[in-house]
Amino acid sequence: MQRKKPAPLSVWRPLGLDRFLLGAPHYPEHVDEGWWRRDAERMATAGVNTVRMGEFAWHVFEPHEGKFDFDLFDRAIEILGAVGIDTIMCTPTATPPRWLTVNYPEVLRVDVNGRSTSHGSRQHADTTSPVFRGHSRRITRAMAEHYRNNPRVIGWQTDNELNTTVSESFAPATRLEFQKFLQHKYGAIGALNFAWGGHFWATAYDDFSQIDLPRPLMPSYPSPGHVQDYHRFLAAATAAFQHDQVEILRATNPDWFIFHNLGQLADIDFRGQFGQDLDFIGFDIYPMLYDEMRRTGGHAATQALHLDICRAYSGNYIVPEQASGFGSQPGFSTMTPEPGEMRRMAMTSVARGADGIMFFRWRPAHFGAEIYWMGIIDHDDVPRRRYDEASRFFHEIAGIKDQILGTVVRMDIGIAGADFDNQEAHKTYAMGLPSPLDDATLLHRHCYRKGIACGFIHPEDDLSRLKALYVPHWVMWKKEWNAAVEAFVRNGGILILSALTGTRDENNHIVRDQAPGRDLSALSGVKVAEFGRLVPEGGAGLFPLFRQPATGTYVPPSPLSASSAQRKYHFTFGNRQFEAAHLYELLEVEPDTEVLGTWSSRFCAGQPAITSRQLGKGRVVYVGTYLTQELAEAIAEVVLTRAGVAPLLPELPDGVEVSIREAEDRQLMFIQNTTDVPVAVPGVPKGLDLLTGGPTAGPMQIAAYGCAVILLSP
Ligand code: GAL
Repeated sequence: MQRKKPAPLSVWRPLGLDRFLLGAPHYPEHVDEGWWRRDAERMATAGVNTVRMGEFAWHVFEPHEGKFDFDLFDRAIEILGAVGIDTIMCTPTATPPRWLTVNYPEVLRVDVNGRSTSHGSRQHADTTSPVFRGHSRRITRAMAEHYRNNPRVIGWQTDNELNTTVSESFAPATRLEFQKFLQHKYGAIGALNFAWGGHFWATAYDDFSQIDLPRPLMPSYPSPGHVQDYHRFLAAATAAFQHDQVEILRATNPDWFIFHNLGQLADIDFRGQFGQDLDFIGFDIYPMLYDEMRRTGGHAATQALHLDICRAYSGNYIVPEQASGFGSQPGFSTMTPEPGEMRRMAMTSVARGADGIMFFRWRPAHFGAEIYWMGIIDHDDVPRRRYDEASRFFHEIAGIKDQILGTVVRMDIGIAGADFDNQEAHKTYAMGLPSPLDDATLLHRHCYRKGIACGFIHPEDDLSRLKALYVPHWVMWKKEWNAAVEAFVRNGGILILSALTGTRDENNHIVRDQAPGRDLSALSGVKVAEFGRLVPEGGAGLFPLFRQPATGTYVPPSPLSASSAQRKYHFTFGNRQFEAAHLYELLEVEPDTEVLGTWSSRFCAGQPAITSRQLGKGRVVYVGTYLTQELAEAIAEVVLTRAGVAPLLPELPDGVEVSIREAEDRQLMFIQNTTDVPVAVPGVPKGLDLLTGGPTAGPMQIAAYGCAVILLSP
């Protein structure tokens, strides 16, 4: 297998491997050794080329402090290698062994209330702890040395889903590390006092050693600057923890690829050192679980959304854990994918940028906190429908991998994403408003349903392949982005700025110019004269009831609504009337700026709400409110259709999704039926269905949970 050095981070970056990784996470330490050989043979027959191992096995690798034992995994790697299957090894730092937490209890994470985690599950150790970092380097070095010359170990995963269970820490050692981070960042305490606004509520410090970790509501709100820097610190600490491991692995064998598998995306700045250290990123995809957790429009739309968000960090990715069957831990469970759905969900991952898929997991565990988390093989060691489906999928992908590798996902509409500072800035002072991502989800959902090629992109990335860029309320818009964004517009792009964009600087100070700040005003031809909060449709007030009433207090059966629920603000746009949600802005408009939408009720009536300004060959649109589903659709109709953004297929039946992966010399159209009944998809372009070998043009019948990968005719 050949590995190319990774290109700079970009949504347009394919993976630098010449192999499509196909396989499963595998836990030989959970399985009777008598089954290993047959496991390997069954894997090989199914088309597995790679397994992932070791991420929770520190206690096996180092049963006693300083005493290493690699025999079990050596034997497992050899048996798999004998049938042609390679291994991705993991650093096992998500589960330090018990001797470690007994001998070094200071490595345990401490929560916001000062309680220490206990040994008995996972991710209980604190990645900000210098003592834990020392042990992490030690085990990584021992494993790297041991596997240095093993030709079957082809790459590494760092840790497992860093920060997924918990990302914050309030341990005494964390406080010291935070103080060091601040000292390094600010140099002098006066600079920190300025940045955090020390004159507000007497939050100025004489010395870095006085600074505490910010605890929410202890008793009131800490300064946004303090909170933002705490999260910047957590992200830097997570990156440093991983960097220790990457440095050792790279120095030991530069041919290894290195990635991390992400679950929950908390306190990680992917476009910073964390992502730059890796060959690529891995995203664990459990659509039916994420659907339950997020409720953003069903598991198929949620999977597409999640993949598109993730791709923005660094381009194509692998899925080290792709859901295969029913999943559960003691506190929750998911639906069971029906026959065909496992393959369909995996194909969606490929359609949106995966260059490697591993079904979680080869076989389910018979013990532990995931006994009902199913794998490809069943508990009784019998391969049934999931084995057949995995096998079909692996063979299909192996057959078309040369067409897929090297292509990237087309996007006509980009949504500004992947920016750590803006995501955190919102959280430091949210006021009950939707996050940039909550807002963007409405536009993404519309595009997903219509089959419009839409995804997320960072403003520092190459914008030239987009037709439009939507900026969802990025309060911390950075000056450095203006030149590229202006060039994008002058070359014909549409830039859509939404309310509150550009209102704070990197310290979370409100900018001293009139919003959206001098540069964005010059671009958009708009200044914000006034703003106010609004209740979204159906809401009873601007935020949930403040504090839980004390036990024994009388609580009326349904609390009455606040006055805010009665104040409705409407605006007209594209010949329709809309009810505004969350926020209104009244806009002062330059003479060369066209008013597309106008407030139509209460004291705002007649004032501009949505504007558009021609700049070079493109336009800057300013939307002085938050999206609702209706407004997202109207913007797509009024603004984006005008910009030449058209769906990839003329008419997309409900429950069918479409995307394109492309390179200079080819375009692959992926069509997936996410429903359990066959559908007829009209207007499919001329091409070749790579999975069936049949030609396409016009209407196409797609089976229940069926997939098509069409090489479009030039
Ligand atoms: C992932 C995790 C795996 C396994 C899986 C199913 O988040 O990385 O180790 O726990 O979920 O729960």
